[in-house]
Amino acid sequence: MAKMTKLDDIVSLCKRRGFIFQSSEIYGGLASCYDYGPLGVELKNNVKKAWWKSAVQMRDDVVGLDCSILMHPLVWKSSGHADKFADLIAECKKCNVRTRVDHLQDHAEEHTEHINIDVAMATEHDLSKKVCPNCGKVGQFTEPMPFKLMFETQMGANVDDSMTLYLRPETAQGIFANFRNVLDTTRVKIPFGIAQIGKSFRNEVTTKAFIFRTREFEQAEIEFFCEPGTDEKWFEHWKQARFNWYLELGVKKENLRFREHESDELAHYAKACVDVEYKFPLGSGDWQELEGIANRTDYDLRQHQRGIRTLNSWFENKGDLSKIDLKDESEDYEKGPLSYFDDEQKKRYIPYVIEPSAGVDRSALAFLVDAYDEEEVRGEKRNLLRFNPALAPLKVAVFPLVRKDGLPDIAMKISNDLKKHFTCFYDEKGAVGRRYRRQDEAGTPFCVTVDGQTKQDNTVTVRDRDSMEQIRVSTDQLLSHLRQKLEP
Ligand code: GAP
Repeated sequence: MAKMTKLDDIVSLCKRRGFIFQSSEIYGGLASCYDYGPLGVELKNNVKKAWWKSAVQMRDDVVGLDCSILMHPLVWKSSGHADKFADLIAECKKCNVRTRVDHLQDHAEEHTEHINIDVAMATEHDLSKKVCPNCGKVGQFTEPMPFKLMFETQMGANVDDSMTLYLRPETAQGIFANFRNVLDTTRVKIPFGIAQIGKSFRNEVTTKAFIFRTREFEQAEIEFFCEPGTDEKWFEHWKQARFNWYLELGVKKENLRFREHESDELAHYAKACVDVEYKFPLGSGDWQELEGIANRTDYDLRQHQRGIRTLNSWFENKGDLSKIDLKDESEDYEKGPLSYFDDEQKKRYIPYVIEPSAGVDRSALAFLVDAYDEEEVRGEKRNLLRFNPALAPLKVAVFPLVRKDGLPDIAMKISNDLKKHFTCFYDEKGAVGRRYRRQDEAGTPFCVTVDGQTKQDNTVTVRDRDSMEQIRVSTDQLLSHLRQKLEP
């Protein structure tokens, strides 16, 4: 119960302070869709900035990309999503509510994001003792059936030439589809990676608490291309690099762990996969996937080489993906357009891919949960978010102690000067103690207060969110003092 309360506390803080709202709330809300408010959008942008800096800007071997969400439908045939991206569900005959078979009760822990549908279809499922989570009836399920997870939409105004498209369920395929473009237009050499942050969509059967599992979400993915045979080394490299990223941003080590996927859990494209799991306060089975690191082998590039050869057949069959046959084993794939020629070794091969795939919203939730704290200060409860400064939505808040004696003008000038460097918030309303508490709840690392002494000696107080200690700093030194603390 205590753990559920903690998520409830986070949800309520997020609503109260404008981090996250239910989508379309004025219409009663839309299930599993959320909007980021003024503080939330800063937090989410900071998560993306920190990821991009570490994944792209700090490395010489990764470049960035930003692909469109809508892609040619053959992309999803080639990638396997059109046929295999599905969950196995069963419908309760009493209430007609559909549930993922792997999420039906009896399972101690729900680990898997999505099961391998081929394995799930081939497995015997005894649902006779399973309980419907909606109406509580036992063993009243239909035979398990696959449920496709991609959202469909129509493109084009004319009935004759309109085309069924899919909202991408992962950003990765835009990267594979641009592999050749990046090779031809940059100086990259294998091993190298392509990174992308963007929205993905899945018609999830089970949505999870708050922003943990939603139908529209953002991913931050790297496809790292390497020579076959070096893939296991790079898998280890990315495993450690990604785990350390969360630690460097302040996530407590005791709340993070690795979990290797069992062979029957592996996605249709993966040779190996490890999850970075976080101890989310979600009730059943706290440890849940935060990020997956997969060895995708050469599966995707090979599949796209097959796929691009089926374009004529796709036209002939009027876009019916079910009539497309990708099994053209006669092709010499190693020499195809998505192969790579290694100048030094004078050999051509299809690269293997290591893929660290993180969820931006899920990371934001983990950072919120991890930073959340409550303590008692002089008999009063203090709620605070101990964000790493890089993630804090507001870096500094500036207050005049009182709204008179010219203090607001001095404070406003300091705030306007600091705004050029950090996200900075000016507040003059209410008792200063209350203003501090509001900033603690927003996770603002420092509050600067202008008081009577400022007029005499040009110093202000700088209050530290975590220790609540206050020191006096000269206004001339304020920027460098804050810089040192915020950008060590
Ligand atoms: N390209 C590989 C891929 O998409 P995944 O394990 O299905 O792998 C990667 O997704 C990450 O995306 C997950 O670890 C999670 O952080 C995030 N994610 C996936 N589905 C999500 C959902 N419905 N809501 C929020 N985040 C999700």
